[in-house]
Amino acid sequence: MDSVVVLTGAGISAESGIRTFRDSDGLWENHRIEAVATPQAFAENPAVVHRFYNARRQQLRSAEVQVNAAHKALARFESEYDGTVLVVTQNIDDLHERAGTRSLIHMHGELNKSRCVVCDDISICADQLSTADCCVRCTSVGSLRPHIVWFGEVPFAMEAIAAAISACRYFISIGTSGNVYPAAGFAQLASSVGATTIELNLEASNTPGGFDETYHGLASEVVPALVERFLA
Ligand code: APR
Repeated sequence: MDSVVVLTGAGISAESGIRTFRDSDGLWENHRIEAVATPQAFAENPAVVHRFYNARRQQLRSAEVQVNAAHKALARFESEYDGTVLVVTQNIDDLHERAGTRSLIHMHGELNKSRCVVCDDISICADQLSTADCCVRCTSVGSLRPHIVWFGEVPFAMEAIAAAISACRYFISIGTSGNVYPAAGFAQLASSVGATTIELNLEASNTPGGFDETYHGLASEVVPALVERFLA
């Protein structure tokens, strides 16, 4: 039975109304990435970091943000493919889940979860986080942070991801610029075990080593087309 590992990045959610990271102005939603997405930023000014992610969470819940045809196609791929499909996403949004994907790893964390820095408890946080919040498990005050992997931190589930890629027949990269490791190295790992590597992106990415097949276009168009090919 063939196994497929799909890596997704910000480009798959761009048509759902969520901005990608590396826009031409180098800013993320008008913020320098280092000012909101590093442990140092959180240590120095947790209120600013909370405000930033509270706004992202609010945006995610807004009516403008909806799954698009690419998320839906991947959910269909998982349910109809005669093999296994694992989606590894760098995205912190919940659009893959909303579309119906079940076999999913959020390697950079999840916007809708918080984590206690004292006891490591992870809980659902669909609303606002603040420095006054109290951990439901250990009752520490001010210990909750977004359950997100910031620059300089180690992504989640790396062993499981490496094992899945090492055993895959196809590796498909969707909507990622290939600038951020370790995800940027996944295609090379897949190639090294003999998998066929396929890239779907708006433009050529910086992914080291390249891909066996590359298709440029909007995720909402190229992803359903590729899934159709696999299911045919
Ligand atoms: N369809 C397909 N691809 C698209 C679309 C679209 N509609 N819109 C944009 N893209 C492509 C861009 O051309 C770009 O190559 O998606 C890619 C997005 O790249 P980035 O913004 O760098 O996002 P990503 O690769 O996911 O970033 C990786 O960096 O900031 C960190 O932790 C953050 O998970 C993030 C990581």
